[in-house]
Amino acid sequence: MSTRTILITGANGEIGHGLIDYLATHTRARVVALDLHPLDESLYRMCYRTVIGDITEMSVLESLSTGFDFDTIFHLAALLSTRSERQPPLAHRVNVNGTLNLLEIAVLQARLQGREIKFIFPSSIAVYGLPDLATKAQVGKIKEHEWCQPRTMYGINKLYTEQLGGYYARYYRQLDADERPEHVDFRSIRFPGIISAHTLPTGGTSDFAPEMLHNAAQGKAYPCFVREDTCIPFMVMPDAVRAITLLEAAPRDKLSRQVYNVGAFNPSAEVIRASTLKAFPRAEISFVPDLKRQNILDSWPLDVDDSAAQQDWNWHPEYDLERAFSEYLIPAITERYHQ
Ligand code: SER
Repeated sequence: MSTRTILITGANGEIGHGLIDYLATHTRARVVALDLHPLDESLYRMCYRTVIGDITEMSVLESLSTGFDFDTIFHLAALLSTRSERQPPLAHRVNVNGTLNLLEIAVLQARLQGREIKFIFPSSIAVYGLPDLATKAQVGKIKEHEWCQPRTMYGINKLYTEQLGGYYARYYRQLDADERPEHVDFRSIRFPGIISAHTLPTGGTSDFAPEMLHNAAQGKAYPCFVREDTCIPFMVMPDAVRAITLLEAAPRDKLSRQVYNVGAFNPSAEVIRASTLKAFPRAEISFVPDLKRQNILDSWPLDVDDSAAQQDWNWHPEYDLERAFSEYLIPAITERYHQ
C-alpha cells in the first residue's frame, strides 16, 4: 500500500473525528489536519501534521500547499444549517468562499504534481426544499435532480458549491488556449442527518436526534425542538465514514455522476424517542417544537433515493435503525458516559 497524503479541513468536526480515526486504523495515509480550533487530543497522535487556520485565508492554504503534495482533499469545514441562518454572510464566506479557495488549491496541487487530485466534498439533504408537508409525504424518496430548491443559506451554499466543484472538474478555464493538464476529480455525497456516539454536532438542524440520545444517556431531560412526526433520513457515523471513503476509492470510470445521495434509515422523532427509551427507560424527552427550525426540517425530504450510489460504487448501509441502536449507539454512548 503506498502512503498517501490527505488534507482534511474541518478536521475537528464530527465527520473529521470519524474519518481521521478510520484512516489511522485502516490505512497508512498521512493526514494533514486543518481546523480553526486546536484538534482534540485523541486526534493528534493519528495525524501526520495539524494546522490551526482559517480556510477563508488563502495564505494559510497556500502555505499548506507549499509544504505538502496532497493526493486527496476531504473538504469538511462548514457552518451547518441553523448556525448559517443566524449568520448568513459568515456562512457564505466559509461555505462558499472557503470551498472556492480549496478548489483553487486543488488546481494548484494538480499543476505542481502533474496529476489528478481528488476532492471529496460532503453535501447535504439541505439542498432539497419541499414546499409543504403534503408534497413531502407524496414524493417520498427523492432523486438527486429533484426538488433542488433549498430554503436555507446552508442548503443554497451546498447546492452552489456542488456545482462549483463540477465546474472545476469539467470546465475550469475552458476558454484558455492550451489544454490544461491539471484536473480536479470532484466527488460529492449528500449526507442525511448523521448520528455519532462519540461527538455531538453544533449548529445543525438535524441535531435533535443526537441531542436526544446523548442527553438521555447522561440522565438529562431533553425538550426536543421538533414535532413527534418529524421525519428525515439519518445514518450513523460509521456508515457516513464508509460512504465517504468508498466514494473516494471508487474507480473514476464507474462514476456516472459527481453528486450522490446516500441513505440508511428514516425514523420519525417519535421513533427515535422510543428507541432511546428502550435503552434509557427513565429518560425525560418531551416535544417542544421550535416552529422556525421545524419549518426547515419539514422542507427536507422524507427519504432519499440512493440507487445511483448503490449501482456505481456498491453503496449499502451496514446499519439500519435497529442495528444502529443496538450494536453501535447504545453500547458506545453508555460506555462514554458511564465509565
Ligand atoms: N446535519 C446538517 C444540518 O442539520 C444537514 O446536513 O445542518
